[in-house]
Amino acid sequence: MADSRCSATRNPFTHTETPAVSVAIEDLSKSFGKLEVLKHVSFQVEPGEIFVLMGPSGSGKSVLLKHIVGLELPSGGRVTVDGRDAAAAETREQIRLALVFQAGALFNSMTVYNNLALYLREHRVADEAGIREKVMRALQILSLEAAAEKYPSELSGGMKKRVAIARALVMEPQLMLYDEPTSELDPVMAATISEIIATLKDQYHVTTIVVSHDRDLALNIADRVGILMGGQLVFLGTRDELRASADPRVVDFLNPKIDLANPRFKQLET
Ligand SMILES: Nc1ncnc2c1ncn2[C@@H]1O[C@H](COP(=O)(O)OP(=O)(O)OP(=O)(O)O)[C@@H](O)[C@H]1O
Ligand SMILES: [Mg+2]
Repeated sequence: MADSRCSATRNPFTHTETPAVSVAIEDLSKSFGKLEVLKHVSFQVEPGEIFVLMGPSGSGKSVLLKHIVGLELPSGGRVTVDGRDAAAAETREQIRLALVFQAGALFNSMTVYNNLALYLREHRVADEAGIREKVMRALQILSLEAAAEKYPSELSGGMKKRVAIARALVMEPQLMLYDEPTSELDPVMAATISEIIATLKDQYHVTTIVVSHDRDLALNIADRVGILMGGQLVFLGTRDELRASADPRVVDFLNPKIDLANPRFKQLET
């Protein structure tokens, strides 16, 4: 296992350093009743790297991510964060990890400011003045200062995604997990979010796992990429290896063609 002490997360708020963590997925299987969603998946994410997990809809990406934060338990195999069982409550006490949910999961009844302050208040991280400083710093990093007093319903999709990232950032995470951070965004905003993810990783050296369909995101910011299909890892490699892959499953996934004669297209019967 990689030595997690070899690299550190520079905390954007306290400017102290905490070690970046590794994540190990070892022979992970997961079934819901008869549905086998993950089948013997293994890979390791090194401290401070950006790992992008790709794959078609329904291939098990979000389910895998939930195992890393302990929201799902393996049917077989194990998931460890920095060598500790991801499902154990102590792990979440010892390691700060933040998940940016697929749909943002903001509280609609609260302003952006209060969405960010919530975690800090609940964990009594600082007094109100200290919380204000941390929240405004996170909003500034994501160019969202002007949105502090707005409600989520008043924001565009891209702003909501950035608020969700800012909310994760105030937790001062050692591990950042993103589920589809660029979905539903126009290509320019998607590129901006990719740049933000890469910048946060470069500046704070936080270990980053991104679940995404976004080919441009993977090819631009990933240190390594995994592709899940039918619950199995069919590709694991760097983004250069991804570009060079001749595996037809990988090529077809990255370059889908629209073919109306393809059996994927089934005419609705009346
Ligand atoms: N709690 C659950 N109970 C039963 N089945 C589930 C549960 N969670 C996920 N599944 C099933 O597991 C499969 C994989 O779901 P998952 O959400 O991981 O897909 P995904 O790869 O993230 O897809 P998308 O790209 O559309 O987000 C799907 O068939 C889904 O219906
Ligand atoms: Mg998903």
